[in-house]
Amino acid sequence: MPAVHGGRPFRPAADVRPGAPDTDFDNKVRLHFMSEQNRENRPFVDVVKVTKVYSPDIVALQDVSLSVDRGEMIFLTGMSGAGKSTLLKLISCMERPNKGLIEVAGRDTAKLKKGEIQELRQQIGMAYQDFKILPRHTVFQNVAMPMEVLYRPGREIKERVNEVLEALRMDHKKNLPAGKLSRGEQQRVAIARAAVNRPALILADEPTGNLDSEISTLVMKLFTELNEGGSTIIIATHDSSIYEGTSHRVVRLEHGMFTA
Ligand SMILES: Nc1ncnc2c1ncn2[C@@H]1O[C@H](COP(=O)(O)OP(=O)(O)OP(=O)(O)O)[C@@H](O)[C@H]1O
Ligand SMILES: [Mg+2]
Repeated sequence: MPAVHGGRPFRPAADVRPGAPDTDFDNKVRLHFMSEQNRENRPFVDVVKVTKVYSPDIVALQDVSLSVDRGEMIFLTGMSGAGKSTLLKLISCMERPNKGLIEVAGRDTAKLKKGEIQELRQQIGMAYQDFKILPRHTVFQNVAMPMEVLYRPGREIKERVNEVLEALRMDHKKNLPAGKLSRGEQQRVAIARAAVNRPALILADEPTGNLDSEISTLVMKLFTELNEGGSTIIIATHDSSIYEGTSHRVVRLEHGMFTA
């Protein structure tokens, strides 16, 4: 069972595909992070007038606001240094804002205790721009980790990890140490790890930065399936080919501010 804080459980998105494992903790309730009174009519991620200054005086974000609805897929664009990664790090509580409010699943992240932040982060699938994979661990072990943290049964872990690796054409490398892989392969490991739990929230930082167009299409297919299954997804990207022609919202940061 998930840990419960103040009566408000953090829960991953449920899997409702035919034949999918019936996970006991989600009870087929979608995006159930929020308390009952908070669930309706609230954004899933709400960033309000946030400023982030890195020491000593680098203003990465200035007075930035962004609301993302439950179940939305949104693309965050902008030039190098515009603040895209910083915004994702603030949403995932890896960094703290200097000013402003950040709510995730109805919770004010500034009010979360250390353990609660850990719990929240376990429910966010984060694909880092610099991957953050464990180089001595195998591909399988890297991808399995978020499921192991949630104590999923071994058989389910094996099935799901293989499924995600197959979707990204990485199953033939699953027993290799991740540090031995090419950049594009390591990127796919990072994406597989972010996707494996079918989390309620996925934050993907330049997920196709090292990939060719064929593999990028596979990544977007995986994200689209997760989004259709209820996951909220925020993708920071320079790669216009992954959002052009889609109906999803595209927002642009410039020098730490959103452009109209
Ligand atoms: N830990 C840090 N310490 C100091 N400055 C930082 C730190 N992280 C980011 N910055 C600065 O904050 C600004 C925004 O950086 P950020 O990484 O968010 O940009 P980005 O839009 O993700 O860029 P890219 O497209 O190159 O990944 C940049 O000027 C960057 O140099
Ligand atoms: Mg970045």
